[in-house]
Amino acid sequence: MTWLKLVEGYMPMQMIMELTGAILLFCVVNWSLNRAGMAIPKFWAGIGVLVFIWMYLTYRIYPPIPFSVRAIYITVTGCGIFMWVSGSEREWLEFKRPIFNVLDGVSGFHKGLRVVALIFIPLGLWGFAYSSLLPSFEEPIELRTVHPAPPATTKVHGKTFVLQTAANPYRVNAEGKYDQEYGNERIVDQSMGRLMKDVNDPNFNPWDPNAEGYTKYVREGGEIFFQNCHFCHGDNLNGRGLRAFAFNPIPANFTDSGTIAQLQETFVFWRVAKGGIGLPGEAFPWASVMPPWEQHLTVDEIWKVVMFEYWHTGYYPRTWD
Ligand code: HEC
Repeated sequence: MTWLKLVEGYMPMQMIMELTGAILLFCVVNWSLNRAGMAIPKFWAGIGVLVFIWMYLTYRIYPPIPFSVRAIYITVTGCGIFMWVSGSEREWLEFKRPIFNVLDGVSGFHKGLRVVALIFIPLGLWGFAYSSLLPSFEEPIELRTVHPAPPATTKVHGKTFVLQTAANPYRVNAEGKYDQEYGNERIVDQSMGRLMKDVNDPNFNPWDPNAEGYTKYVREGGEIFFQNCHFCHGDNLNGRGLRAFAFNPIPANFTDSGTIAQLQETFVFWRVAKGGIGLPGEAFPWASVMPPWEQHLTVDEIWKVVMFEYWHTGYYPRTWD
């Protein structure tokens, strides 16, 4: 039904009004047919209402509601209809009559119906039992912790790093001292559509071969990134690399505020060094293809590429709070 739109925010009201309208219409039709002496048997009226509500929930409601919720609504509707048909002894008898007619086989037609029912009901139940007992070959659902608690220390190339106190040796200011603020002020300006532009210095050129200090290290990190990481993590660091969709889980999207923006720089250092295979037990079971980069990169290269990822995405590493 596209001509009668469900309006966001008014949907519950609309649904109640439409259902009430439909039920009222049924009552009027039922009443008029009664008056005209062509009463619909209670049995069929009940089934009709149930089917109508089922169709309404399935085809009218958008976005579609899950089967389990529809089943709850239909059960409640069924209870309502049951109360309606069993309101008085006479109505209850009237409702039951078609069922008893079939069970008693009052006519040739009812006898035929009884045979069909006796064959198909057991057959249906058998089919249901069979399909629910059939073993399924689907993959089990895997719940995973995307950012597990990191270890207190990590050993890379024989050197032990304490994650709480280690710092990126390349995140330095003009005097060569560790300075998080300095780096934070020189990240890519997000509002410029990811142009490689310094917010404070319009002449800033991250690809300048003569750049010194922080800028030079970011550039070197970029080189490492485009030699090793972009196949999976993508040219724009958005996790859409050439090979990304061959993997499950897919490579992390660093532009998403849920990845490196959430993490301390040493956490990212640890993740890059140890890869998917180095994740602690709580992050399993999952099959991350993130390589353990300590096997291919030096400690310095890892720090640089991590800094590049922050610089390019415009996020600051989280501090230990
Ligand atoms: C073969 C594909 C592949 C390559 C190449 C790759 N990664 Fe990954 N990376 C992944 C996948 C898949 C994940 C997500 C699963 C995980 O966290 O282990 C990931 C996750 C990460 C994370 C964790 C982000 C988070 O939110 O926890 C970091 C950091 C990361 N990669 C950095 C790198 C760096 C740096 C390089 C290059 C030196 C690199 N990756 C190269 C596949 C790859």
